Amino acid sequence: MHTSDAADVSQPGGDTAHRLSALNRNDRPFHVVLSQQFDRPTIEQLCQLSDMIRSIASTRQGTQFLRTQLSHRRAMLYFIQPSTRTFLSFTAACQILGMPHNEVRDRSTSSEVKGESEDDTIRVLSQYFDLIIMRHPAEGFAEHVANMLNAMPRTIPLMNAGSGKDQHPTQAMLDIYTLLRSLAEPGTKRSAPRYTADLLAGKTIAFAGDLKRGRTVRSLAYLLCRYSGMRLLFVAPPELQIGDDIIEYIEKHDIEYEKLDDLRPVIGDVNAVYMTRMQDEWDTAGESGKIDYTRYSLTYEMADQFKDHLIIMHPLPRRLEIDQRIDHLPQAKYWDQVRNGMWMRAALIATIFDCDTAIREHYYAYYTY
Ligand code: CP
Repeated sequence: MHTSDAADVSQPGGDTAHRLSALNRNDRPFHVVLSQQFDRPTIEQLCQLSDMIRSIASTRQGTQFLRTQLSHRRAMLYFIQPSTRTFLSFTAACQILGMPHNEVRDRSTSSEVKGESEDDTIRVLSQYFDLIIMRHPAEGFAEHVANMLNAMPRTIPLMNAGSGKDQHPTQAMLDIYTLLRSLAEPGTKRSAPRYTADLLAGKTIAFAGDLKRGRTVRSLAYLLCRYSGMRLLFVAPPELQIGDDIIEYIEKHDIEYEKLDDLRPVIGDVNAVYMTRMQDEWDTAGESGKIDYTRYSLTYEMADQFKDHLIIMHPLPRRLEIDQRIDHLPQAKYWDQVRNGMWMRAALIATIFDCDTAIREHYYAYYTY
């Protein structure tokens, strides 16, 4: 992590350098809470490590090697907001690394119903486990917990698996992995780093849909600001446009951008499009029901305009914003995203527990020629 990055946190919260330093140890993420913790070399190293884990896991011997890495640690998946992909891919990532894990998905089964505070519940979890992976409906709660854990005599890492409307950093890491992997030359066995080239330079990337309340878009926008020479299009209903804090961050990083309210006129010009669903669980009075979402959707008829190498992404779940017939086109990368999330989350956990070096050494010893 470069020291200059420490000034890049632009969310509310005062002393930004102090916020990042509370989350990192020895210039590496210890807690994973904010996308701004990741600089470009770290992103690229994690993409490469994800590729290595994927290759090693393709053999029985490799799978057995990976399972020895964290068999002495335990993870708690504290998910009190619904999840399919993030929960299951973290579960699979723990299994890949041999890490036993347990889960809390319903607070009604915990002693919180007896009046125990959520903070105390998490303090208790930290005594039994070596990692907490947390999905929570409240913005800022993951950062609060990371700071709370820092103050415990036994400090364990916290991974933010989605916090309210603000951040979903591990989703952003799998998204940028998918984007870079789709643009990079296919790796050779003696895989020189594939991800260090300026893969995003000259590219136009559109985000479409409910950008105001979509935490995945916010977290990915922070990561993209580590790159230069691209153009970002934010295509959303005016009342659901991307937040001013993200725009401020993008401007600070001299990234070219435009706000639009219809995807259809620009779909033929973009190299990547990141689709999102309406986040109507945050509605207060059914207000999003009045919005015409066809302006932020991909129909099969639009496929004629797609560039051959268009990268269509979606964090999922999907509703009607991508016609299912598009799933079969080579441009559809959202199922790749799902699988990439498992490898990237394994790479993140391995890095937090310092077994990334052993994995790299194993890869270079047995998986290159
Ligand atoms: N992309 C994502 O966060 O999906 P889930 O809500 O199913 O975890």
